[in-house]
Amino acid sequence: MARAKPTPPIKRIVKDLRRQIAQFRKNGERVALVPTMGALHEGHLTLVRTAKRKAERVVVSIFVNPTQFGPNEDLARYPRDEAGDLAKLAEVGADLVWSPNPEEMYPAGFATSIEVKGAAEGLEGAFRPHHFGGVATVCCKLFSQVTPDVAVFGEKDYQQLCVIRQMVRDLNLPLAIHGVPTVREKDGLALSSRNRYLSAEERAAAPALAAAIRDVAQKAANGARQQSVIKSATAALKRAGFDPIDYIATADAETLSPWTSTSGRPGRVLVAARLGTTRLIDNVPIPPPAS
Ligand code: PAJ
Repeated sequence: MARAKPTPPIKRIVKDLRRQIAQFRKNGERVALVPTMGALHEGHLTLVRTAKRKAERVVVSIFVNPTQFGPNEDLARYPRDEAGDLAKLAEVGADLVWSPNPEEMYPAGFATSIEVKGAAEGLEGAFRPHHFGGVATVCCKLFSQVTPDVAVFGEKDYQQLCVIRQMVRDLNLPLAIHGVPTVREKDGLALSSRNRYLSAEERAAAPALAAAIRDVAQKAANGARQQSVIKSATAALKRAGFDPIDYIATADAETLSPWTSTSGRPGRVLVAARLGTTRLIDNVPIPPPAS
């Protein structure tokens, strides 16, 4: 039987983290960061495997960030499984886990926040007004705590990836951002920590979300009228049991402003909708026009 790999060391205060990062630097090793909120699944582990190809050392942060949850959102019920996460991170060969104590991240008197406009406006930003401020602030802190050469994010949270890129560009933060395509179940459902909340019946209906945006992307690429394409995708989602559908929209893949087939720019289809009590998001690229 294969022996379990040793779990990576875990640091909980900045001083200890910095000491370990300084050791990596002294050895001339580059550092990649994979920010997460834990409850790790194959999507997260794919980010870690990608990060290992980008740098000699991979740090995974696990921190359920309270400032990115709204007052009526699922912070209290967000899944936590540190032992399970550490075992998975051992398997994929992460070098270090940064899991700060909440009071280390947000000490009494903490009073700074980063507000990103541009990519953060509209879509998720319209439905979760404080979400991207919380994400940008915690990621900026993670970047200055870990000082990575590169940070790896999933396209699953496509708007988040655009917001982080915008912040890094605007603030001249000295790291590269690398995006990784969404990891999906065989039936197309994007892996998510929140999928575990779906009942068996909801789980069976959930792949309709990816199917609907794939359909919109294909038809939009072929120059179909977006309004009617989105209307029929909305009807398909309603039939599958999604309600409400917060948005289903095409957007410029970089700025997230509205996209048109004549723009000659890469586009994306993004969706957020609720199935029972679980809110799911997904997105796909619009294929380039056949030439
Ligand atoms: P979390 O939801 O844990 O996701 C951590 C990272 O994993 C994000 O970059 C996310 O896009 C990526 N990810 C999740 N599911 C994925 C999938 N199916 N395929 C590929 N990548 C996937 O996103 C956050 O945490 C937080 O907002 C965070 C950035 C950590 C800031 O608190």
